[in-house]
Amino acid sequence: MNRSLIFAALLCAAAGGVQAADLARAQAIVAGKCHLCHGLEGESSNAIYPRLAGQNPEYIAKQLADFKSGRRKGTMNEMAADLTPDEMVALGQYFASKPPQTHRVSDPDLAAVGKYIYYNGNKWSGVADCASCHGQEAAGTDKLPRLAGQHMRYLVTQLQDFNTRERTNDNAVMHSIASKLTELEIEAVARYLSAK
Ligand code: HEC
Ligand code: HEC
Repeated sequence: MNRSLIFAALLCAAAGGVQAADLARAQAIVAGKCHLCHGLEGESSNAIYPRLAGQNPEYIAKQLADFKSGRRKGTMNEMAADLTPDEMVALGQYFASKPPQTHRVSDPDLAAVGKYIYYNGNKWSGVADCASCHGQEAAGTDKLPRLAGQHMRYLVTQLQDFNTRERTNDNAVMHSIASKLTELEIEAVARYLSAK
């Protein structure tokens, strides 16, 4: 197949990728179990569960596959055990279509430190800036997670888990970053992002 044909095929797949039936299936799965922790709209009203509303679809599908295979460990292993690849894609689309939410800024001075780190990193300790990968608006990309509006506590836990290698799925980059962040920097960047 030449390149333009492959491109056309990909476009068709993207346009028709998730059918109404798949979305209805996703909705049924969410109403069946995911809503207990993540909310029907992905709003996750309890801060220990990550918000999924507005999260990027491919990132969600990939995390679900990683939970199913055991590459990423935790409560979710059991939740993802029965999901098919099509259902993972549909669940990604479902949550991605929900409007993201944000939090109030609770400590503006600390959040300002977090903002500095997000856009500049810390050149003295060799921390890369976050914006170069997670984006100017912290909205991520199709494969990289959205961080804006996420619960602070979840962000802190993930950064700690990347550091201690509790979270090992694709941790090459994030381990090296998280291992150089101080506790203050982790709190600060998480606070800034949760209110973004
Ligand atoms: C019993 C509570 C619970 C239920 C039910 C649940 N989850 Fe989760 N989910 C979690 C927790 C806790 C995490 C955080 C991962 C961790 O630290 O182990 C998580 C993480 C995730 C993530 C990764 C988010 C990120 O930003 O990386 C996705 C995607 C996800 N869940 C989707 C789902 C879907 C889809 C369902 C339904 C099939 C579901 N969850 C059901 C508790 C739950
Ligand atoms: C070179 C690119 C890169 C840079 C720079 C980067 N990240 Fe990441 N980050 C990633 C990738 C890739 C993942 C997702 C890994 C996966 O697929 O599981 C990720 C995941 C995360 C997660 C987990 C999100 C979730 O929903 O579970 C957090 C939190 C995070 N990054 C915070 C940061 C912070 C804070 C900075 C800056 C100090 C930063 N990242 C800089 C690439 C990067």
